[in-house]
Amino acid sequence: MLKFNSNGRFGILLFGDLHESFDYEDSKKFKDMQKMMNAALDMYRPDLCVLLGDNYYTTNCKKDPEGFIAGVKAVCGPILSRKIPVAAIMGNHEHDPKCDEEIIAAYNKIEGMIMRSDGVPGKADFKELIYSQDGKKPLACLWFLDSNNLCEDASVSFYDWVHEDQIEWFEKESAKLKEENDGNPLPSYIFQHIPIPEEYRLLRKAKLPELPWAVEGFGKRRGTHYVKARGTVGYLGEAPAAPDYNGGEFEAWKRTGAVKAAFFGHDHLNDFSGFVDGIFLAQHKTAGFRAYTDGCHSCVRYLELSERNPARFRQELRHFKEFGLKSESLGPVFKNFTDREAMALHAAGYSAAALASIGALTYFIKKIKK
Ligand SMILES: [Fe+2]
Ligand SMILES: [Fe+2]
Repeated sequence: MLKFNSNGRFGILLFGDLHESFDYEDSKKFKDMQKMMNAALDMYRPDLCVLLGDNYYTTNCKKDPEGFIAGVKAVCGPILSRKIPVAAIMGNHEHDPKCDEEIIAAYNKIEGMIMRSDGVPGKADFKELIYSQDGKKPLACLWFLDSNNLCEDASVSFYDWVHEDQIEWFEKESAKLKEENDGNPLPSYIFQHIPIPEEYRLLRKAKLPELPWAVEGFGKRRGTHYVKARGTVGYLGEAPAAPDYNGGEFEAWKRTGAVKAAFFGHDHLNDFSGFVDGIFLAQHKTAGFRAYTDGCHSCVRYLELSERNPARFRQELRHFKEFGLKSESLGPVFKNFTDREAMALHAAGYSAAALASIGALTYFIKKIKK
């Protein structure tokens, strides 16, 4: 049972897209990830950790479930050794090996880890209530939703979304919670891997002079360039890889009147956030170093609810560098710049080299002609 702590708070530490893999044992990337995990756990002392999907990749969970369990345990070692519970959601890469059931079962075998299929059979959708300190009354609900993998029909969308039957389950359960809460919606927080299309409402189309730092849209939005809209804070490093099709999930959240905030993984470079129709939407870049990263700007997000008013929350981002840590796995450029800055530096370097070559060639041609 999750309960508000003796300070009347409930702290949640979020880790996006760790993308850890088999060679965790002696990898510098793994060590960098664990350095930040340890530093964040020491600083925030959370009551719960959440892995936002694309956590630990395997192709052989069916053949070697024990190996998979050992890998997840190693990845979450600093959390599990502190006896802090970890809720894990499915990312698109957890779906890749097509052994969802085995993955859910494997997570369940690890003491302290939470992943279940409570709603539509086979989907890793589940909810956890946060109770008052005395354990008598649920005061808030955390929803962990399975945003599936790729869309079966690529002409509709590249990525999939939370399906209609999953949304039905969410709405039905929300209505039950409301009924049990004297007709008042129970403050709710969503954790999901693939972002919803409404995330683009935190952005706006770039004007011509803004194009150098704008990002090109994903999927059917390709060809349109975006920058952050007014009121959106944080870093926009790439186009949100949301589905092109809108399955109506956000509208369902609004109908319940319960959802206060939603937290997404999947985009490794974005950590922007803002309000859309009164709901806080927050993107998480990777908290690791295994997948494409944001230089030394990998980060975690801390979310804190208050027992006195669980409909209000406090949250903050903290990047690897802000913990005062030094990376062992990144080279000199990526240690100091974000990915986008590093790419711009490379491009500037190539352009300068190309111009110098053209200049030198022109000089020699002129010399030869003389
Ligand atoms: Fe990912
Ligand atoms: Fe992903």
